[in-house]
Amino acid sequence: MGKIILTGDRPTGRLHVGHYVGSLKRRVELQNSGEYDKIYIMIADAQALTDNADNPDKVRENIIEVALDYLACGLDPEKSTLFIQSQIPQLTELSFYYMNLVTVSRLQRNPTVKTEIKMRNFEASIPVGFFTYPISQAADITAFQATTVPVGEDQMPMLEQTKEIVHKFNSVYGETLTDPAILLPENEACLRLPGIDGKSKMSKSLGNCIYLAEEPEEIKKKVMSMYTDPDHIKITDPGKLEGNTVFTYLDAFSRPEHFERYLPDYQNLDELKAHYQRGGLGDVKVKKFLNHVLQEELEPIRNRRKVYEKDIAYVYDILRKGSIEAEKTAQQTLNDVKNAMRINYFEDKELIARHTAKYQDQ
Ligand code: TRP
Repeated sequence: MGKIILTGDRPTGRLHVGHYVGSLKRRVELQNSGEYDKIYIMIADAQALTDNADNPDKVRENIIEVALDYLACGLDPEKSTLFIQSQIPQLTELSFYYMNLVTVSRLQRNPTVKTEIKMRNFEASIPVGFFTYPISQAADITAFQATTVPVGEDQMPMLEQTKEIVHKFNSVYGETLTDPAILLPENEACLRLPGIDGKSKMSKSLGNCIYLAEEPEEIKKKVMSMYTDPDHIKITDPGKLEGNTVFTYLDAFSRPEHFERYLPDYQNLDELKAHYQRGGLGDVKVKKFLNHVLQEELEPIRNRRKVYEKDIAYVYDILRKGSIEAEKTAQQTLNDVKNAMRINYFEDKELIARHTAKYQDQ
C-alpha cells in the first residue's frame, strides 16, 4: 500500500509561525524527502464549520488564505494533493458509519474536545457536529488510508480516537482500514510555540501571533515586544530561560549558521543561553538576533506567497483538481467500507441469487 500522509488545517485565519514550526515546515520536508507515495493536505472547512456554523463567510474567506500559506511554505501541487474537505462527500458518509462505533462517553473524555468546549463556552449547548468532530477526523484520515499524520501535539487525542475506530472497524467487519501513526515535531520548542506574550498558545483571538505573511517591520515590532523574564531588569541581572519566549523561539528557529551571520560573538545557542543566565546580556540584543533569524526564515515564504497572490484563479484551480483526485481515493475506501459492512446490495450477485433461490422453492 505504501506510505501515505494526510494532514490539514481549519481555515479560520491566516497561518502563523506556530503552524509553521509545529507542522508546515515538516510537511514540506516530508514532501521533498521522496519517501511518501502519496501526500494529501486538506483544508478542513467542514470541521471549521462545526464551531462556526453562524459564520460561514469567515471559513469561505480563509480557504484561499490557507492555500496561499501552504504554497508559500513550499507545498508543491505536483507532489502533494491539496484539497477542500467539504468537496469530498464520502467523508461525511464514512463519518456516519463510524458513529456507530464510538460511545458518547468516549467523546466526552476527549481532552481536546473538553478544552475546546471550555474555550468556546459551549458547556450547556454543544453543537452535535462539534461534539462528534473527532469521528469526522477519523474519516478524513482513514478515507486516504493514511499511514502517517504529521500534526501538532494537541491533535494526539484525535489520533487516538482514530486508531480506536480503525481497530473496532477492522475487528467487527474485517481488515479494511489502515492504522495511522502520528508524527510529532522533533524539536521540543516546536511542539507548542507560545504566543509573543508568553501565553500558552498562539491564537488569533489573543492577538499574539506572528503570521507567515507578516511584513518585515511588523515582525520586528512583534519580536521587540516579546515577553521575556520579568525579573531581568538590569543587563547585569541573571536571566531566566524558563518561560522566556524569546529563547523558546530561538530553540525553535535558530541554527549555528545564524550565529556566524548575525551574532558571531557566540558559537551557538548554548553559549548565548549561558551568558543570559550568568547576567550581563540584555534582552534587546537577544531580540535583535531573533529578529534576524525570523526575517531570514520568513522572507522566502512571504515572497513566494506574493507570486501566488498574483494568480488567485490558478490557486483555486489547484484546489479544484486536488479535490477531484481526493474524491476518487475516498470513493475507493468508501466502497471497501460498504463491502465490509455488507451494505453493497447491488454489487453482490450472490445476494440476489440467494434470495432468488429462497423464494423459488415456495
Ligand atoms: N483538527 C485539525 C486542526 O485543528 C484539522 C484537521 C481536520 C486534521 N482533519 C484532520 C488534521 C485530519 C490532521 C488529520 O487544525
